[in-house]
Amino acid sequence: MSENLHTEENPPTGHRFSSRSIRSFVLRQGHMSNAQQRHLDEMMPKIGIPYQSAALDLNATFGRNAPKILEIGFGMGETTAQIAAAHPEIDYLAIDVHTPGVGALCKLIAEQQLSNLRIIQHDAIEVLRDMIADDTLAGMHVFFPDPWRKVRHYKRRLIQAEFLALVAQKLVPGAYLHCATDWENYAEWMLEALSASVLENTADGYAPRPAHRPLTKFENRGLGLGHGVWDLVFTRKS
Ligand SMILES: C[S@@+](CC[C@H](N)C(=O)[O-])C[C@H]1O[C@@H](n2cnc3c(N)ncnc32)[C@H](O)[C@@H]1O
Repeated sequence: MSENLHTEENPPTGHRFSSRSIRSFVLRQGHMSNAQQRHLDEMMPKIGIPYQSAALDLNATFGRNAPKILEIGFGMGETTAQIAAAHPEIDYLAIDVHTPGVGALCKLIAEQQLSNLRIIQHDAIEVLRDMIADDTLAGMHVFFPDPWRKVRHYKRRLIQAEFLALVAQKLVPGAYLHCATDWENYAEWMLEALSASVLENTADGYAPRPAHRPLTKFENRGLGLGHGVWDLVFTRKS
């Protein structure tokens, strides 16, 4: 790894993102297919939740009392839909900012008639901070977050001290945060940041891939080529 992980300018944890001038994403235009646009227009009024500055009543939102899992950065939503379909007893709140991805997940929700999945298209840090009450989430998923490979961009990485403090507040005691990455430098960074947080590691270092995270086609091909994937599963102390 040629990048220098720990410099004074780029410490491993504790970056200040509270100013919100530094975000973990850059809004890209991206191609939107007609089908994605159609499903977005049709589904978002039904299953989209607009950003608001007050906490949501999640049981009222989903119309039932069931465990709630929040995912940050669902991309095109394939894994998200697959997990929600496999666990109808759990409610999923999926967050991303990328419009074609929102359209793609809307399409999957419509096709598979998933009733346990809602979408928020907004900065997940603001959603977590403002819309999620403390002690409410049974789990959180952060799968393959943007690795921000250049040292000068490390400050954009989602997994860092302040974010993890916020996560710990929102989980119910015993609930988990599951992160996965295919970028070794980010895996090391995550392990260091998570180990320094109040959350507790469920494994000795990296965790075996939990059964709830399906193996993607892309990941399978990468594994065949000898590329690594690292899972990290930490829990809030009960
Ligand atoms: C590299 S993609 C991974 C997508 C997906 N999880 C996967 O495994 O294919 C990261 C996603 O996170 C989203 N993202 C990054 N920071 C975010 C934030 N603060 N709020 C919402 N979405 C964010 C990006 O828009 C992008 O779609």
